[in-house]
Amino acid sequence: MPSIPTFKLNTGHSIPAIGMGCWMGQPGAGLDQEILSSLAEALRAGYRHIDTANMYQNEREVGQVIRESGIPREEIFLTTKLNPKMYHDVVGGFEGSLRDLGLDYVDLYLLHWPQGIRASDERPYGDKEGDIGPTFNQIWAEMEKLLETHKGKVRAIGVSNYMPRNLNKLLKTAKVVPAVNQIENHPYLPEEELVELCREHGIHVTAYSPLGQGNSPFFSDADIKAIAEAHKTTVASVVLSWLVKRGISAVPKSANKDRMRQNLSLVELSDAEVERILDISRNDPQRHTHLLPGIVKDGKIGGWTLDQLGWDVGFNLPELKLQPSSKDPAASSGKGVPQAIKDFLDRFYRVSDTPDVHGEYAEHFVDDASRLHFQIGPMDATTSREGIVAWRENGWKGVTRRKHVVNGVFISPEQQSVIMLDGTVEMDKEGKTVKFNWAGRMAFDDESVERGQPLIETYKVWLSPA
Ligand SMILES: NC(=O)c1ccc[n+]([C@@H]2O[C@H](COP(=O)([O-])OP(=O)(O)OC[C@H]3O[C@@H](n4cnc5c(N)ncnc54)[C@H](OP(=O)(O)O)[C@@H]3O)[C@@H](O)[C@H]2O)c1
Repeated sequence: MPSIPTFKLNTGHSIPAIGMGCWMGQPGAGLDQEILSSLAEALRAGYRHIDTANMYQNEREVGQVIRESGIPREEIFLTTKLNPKMYHDVVGGFEGSLRDLGLDYVDLYLLHWPQGIRASDERPYGDKEGDIGPTFNQIWAEMEKLLETHKGKVRAIGVSNYMPRNLNKLLKTAKVVPAVNQIENHPYLPEEELVELCREHGIHVTAYSPLGQGNSPFFSDADIKAIAEAHKTTVASVVLSWLVKRGISAVPKSANKDRMRQNLSLVELSDAEVERILDISRNDPQRHTHLLPGIVKDGKIGGWTLDQLGWDVGFNLPELKLQPSSKDPAASSGKGVPQAIKDFLDRFYRVSDTPDVHGEYAEHFVDDASRLHFQIGPMDATTSREGIVAWRENGWKGVTRRKHVVNGVFISPEQQSVIMLDGTVEMDKEGKTVKFNWAGRMAFDDESVERGQPLIETYKVWLSPA
């Protein structure tokens, strides 16, 4: 069993430095089986810290795994979070979670976000008195009462997603200092000022999405890879070790037997290595960024602007980079794809997301009607560059921004001129942000690939709203 360091909370209780994240990407049906088996496996691997939330819709399964594990309850540190739709009824929210978990107590109960959401019309609570709903200062006062009214059932209370501005505002009226602030934290978002503020107030920091949700750009970051090579370990292990060395616990999610074990094997980084990783975002704005664009809708998160949330940096996502997929090593994304095609895709999607360059975009395709087949979503296929230009002129009407992200590129060893693609596209159109998932098939002209200047013969894309 690996030995996992612990940190002391301001309540006197200990929290294991690495926990298992239980957000399975989306709530709901089908994921209950995955959480049952992967969490049971995690406990067997030695995890003793579990992070869930009412919003993840799996408290029942999480509780069941803990109860059936045979591990004494005292040995497991369990965090869950109040659903922002229950901020008007903290007691009801807490009791509902405890009932679903089927446990006697939770170790840590967090306010999931500063902003509540009114369940009746999905409108966000405001950030000052007189706005919709109670303020977070008032909600925190209700959380504090739980420690008395539900003594023994909740051991510590804390917050999540509180940046310095909102944390300072909360501390002005708080009678109980939060035990924990759970925040997005990884090499591209070290939040140094916030971590220091929490330290000054005795608030422990837990990092969520510590691996940038897996397929993230820092997995191919030269600085981090160099440190991983020096320690003969993985990027994930370096990142988690770096967080722990900074006094931060982390809750990486993995449903994979090997990766969940890998995430428990920490290495001892030198102070210079810790600084080298901190220097990345200090010195390079391209590598200083939040990494969860999926949680933003119409420029807001849960109805609040990034400014209301106190974010001092948004999404400076680096240029498209092809990442190996962590999901399925057998069919790894990017594996075996010739460099000429990777470079081509990098250029192609950059041009694709640039307005007005319709002719340049069309030049990525063969100029031969007998071989060209271009079809995006429900459009009728076109077989000419002119047809592509006309489609693009039309498609860009009213669009002010468009961003493709390629999550996966797959190639067959037998058919090197055909690739399958998987990605998302987000665009701002007439004041609204819309997002699609897409899958694509791209076939190249063989000779052009050999020349190192690939031209597309077939490009067919299937779309579904994200
Ligand atoms: N408080 C909040 O508002 C908030 C927000 C987001 C998340 N969270 C919490 O934080 C937890 C973790 O965050 P997250 O799930 O968003 O992202 P994450 O833990 O940074 O990344 C999870 C992804 O990384 C992959 N992965 C895991 N270990 C890996 C390794 N060693 N090498 C390569 N890939 C690896 C996983 O795939 P496999 O499963 O296939 O290994 C999964 O796709 C959540 O589950 C949740 O409990 C809290």
